[in-house]
Amino acid sequence: MEVVIRPTDNAASELVARIIALELRANPHLVLGLATGRTMESVYRVLVRMHRKEGLDFSLCSTFNLDEYVGLAPGDPHCYRHYMNEHLFRHVNIDPRNTHLPNGQAPDLDAECRGYEAAIARFGGIDLQLLGIGRAGHIGFNEPLSALRSRTRVKALAPLTLEQNAESFGGEANVPRRAITMGVGTILECRRGLLLATGAEKADIIAKAVEGPITSMISATAMQLHAHCTVVVDESAASRLEGSEYYRRIFATEPEWKEFRNLE
Ligand code: F6R
Repeated sequence: MEVVIRPTDNAASELVARIIALELRANPHLVLGLATGRTMESVYRVLVRMHRKEGLDFSLCSTFNLDEYVGLAPGDPHCYRHYMNEHLFRHVNIDPRNTHLPNGQAPDLDAECRGYEAAIARFGGIDLQLLGIGRAGHIGFNEPLSALRSRTRVKALAPLTLEQNAESFGGEANVPRRAITMGVGTILECRRGLLLATGAEKADIIAKAVEGPITSMISATAMQLHAHCTVVVDESAASRLEGSEYYRRIFATEPEWKEFRNLE
């Protein structure tokens, strides 16, 4: 894992978007794994701006989202397909046929999960997987005790996740109880992981995810097993990290970060 600490949440999102853009320019056929949630909104804002102002081209890339709620009515504005359309897809030149999310309304959810895995494999696997982290430490909806080798499946949401998502559903009682999510094992097969966390409420869980022991209780710790995972945090989310001085030095001095140092 490598950790990059940026002064503000805007600077952290800008860096994440720049890393995505760099990978997309290097490989226009990039298979991009996407996440939803509040943290990602600013990343998508920057990508949309880069598309408009710098001609960032999405026409050949494909996307696979991490997860989708089960059982929402077709067209429900809370579904992640709607989120992705609103925050990214309809603002850039991506081919909608190349955008993939699990279908939480599929009549046979197990078949849907198997089909999602097969589609990822057909596209050659995920090159760059964008990840957020929940307060319970989930990546995707891999709630506590998700097997480190789990594949795409239906998962019951943990109490802390229901609480975290209550506001956007107008109360916890309205939050769907289940979701389809890529498994931890599915996520670990991506070629590069890129995890973004911002805000003081993520400080504890980020310290555990990055510097704590690997445990299925905190699925984000599994990213420690990944050969190339970059964790980008703002100062607030970094406040409980023990190694922050070292992480800052790497970013300030190592050549791979040179072109990213002068952002914002
Ligand atoms: C959503 C997802 C989740 C979120 C996480 C953080 O697709 O994969 O793991 O990334 O719950 O959500 P926010 O950014 O709303 O705190």
